[in-house]
Amino acid sequence: MQIHIVQDAEAGGVVAADAVQRVLEEQRATGPVLGLATGSSPLPAYAELIRRHREEGLSFAAARAFLLDEYVGLPDEHEQSYHRFIREQLISAIDMPDENVASPDGTASDPHAEAAAYDRRIAEAGGVDLQILGIGSNGHIAFNEPGSSLGSRTRVVGLTRSTIADNSRYFASREDVPVQALSQGLGTILEARRIVLVASGENKAAAVAQLVEGGISSRWPATVLQMHPEVLVVVDEAAASRLELHEDYRHERALEEGELASRRR
Ligand code: GLP
Repeated sequence: MQIHIVQDAEAGGVVAADAVQRVLEEQRATGPVLGLATGSSPLPAYAELIRRHREEGLSFAAARAFLLDEYVGLPDEHEQSYHRFIREQLISAIDMPDENVASPDGTASDPHAEAAAYDRRIAEAGGVDLQILGIGSNGHIAFNEPGSSLGSRTRVVGLTRSTIADNSRYFASREDVPVQALSQGLGTILEARRIVLVASGENKAAAVAQLVEGGISSRWPATVLQMHPEVLVVVDEAAASRLELHEDYRHERALEEGELASRRR
């Protein structure tokens, strides 16, 4: 796990966008497959990707994308559906064809069958080259709440009270927040070839401390990422504030950047 501590969320967005750009360039011939997260954490990265598309010609035309999750019961056009969110925040402003963006269907008549079919669709696309992740304040990733099996697959999940409370800021009231979602499982997420997790703000500090330095446990589902060989954690100062080895991560990062700079010379 690589830890990159940045000044603020905008700087984190640039680091995450660099990782996406690298995958777009490396996989151009085969068609890059991106895993996209919703929520506020990835928005600075999406803003930076949109800027690069507009100003530097970064193209997503050959790319496909899979979303992590969707609320059960919300149709695509609902203003809080993740289907709509990703189009408003990213897809409509870049050149990725709309039909290349997949997400679980929250209104499927058989959500369990839809979940299994979603995992198959990801596999048929050759798997995810780069997965962008945020993290919930209780350590969830996608909607894998505490207690999720570390090997879980895409499935129907119930949302905890803390997630409903966190996400109620997007809805008229807490009662309007769906109580279930279709979510990629932890096992599904671990199959992505690379993962970039972004977090900012003090309310993520406890979850980030567990993610990086806690024991692997379904109590803090994001800790499963410690098992993945290619994870970059991009956190701002506030989200990094409870990391015990904060200074060591900074030191390692400085060494890596120094080495990269000397190789470029
Ligand atoms: C939501 C989403 C997650 C997201 C997390 C954090 O419930 N299902 O994918 O990472 O909560 O959201 P935010 O980035 O808005 O803090």
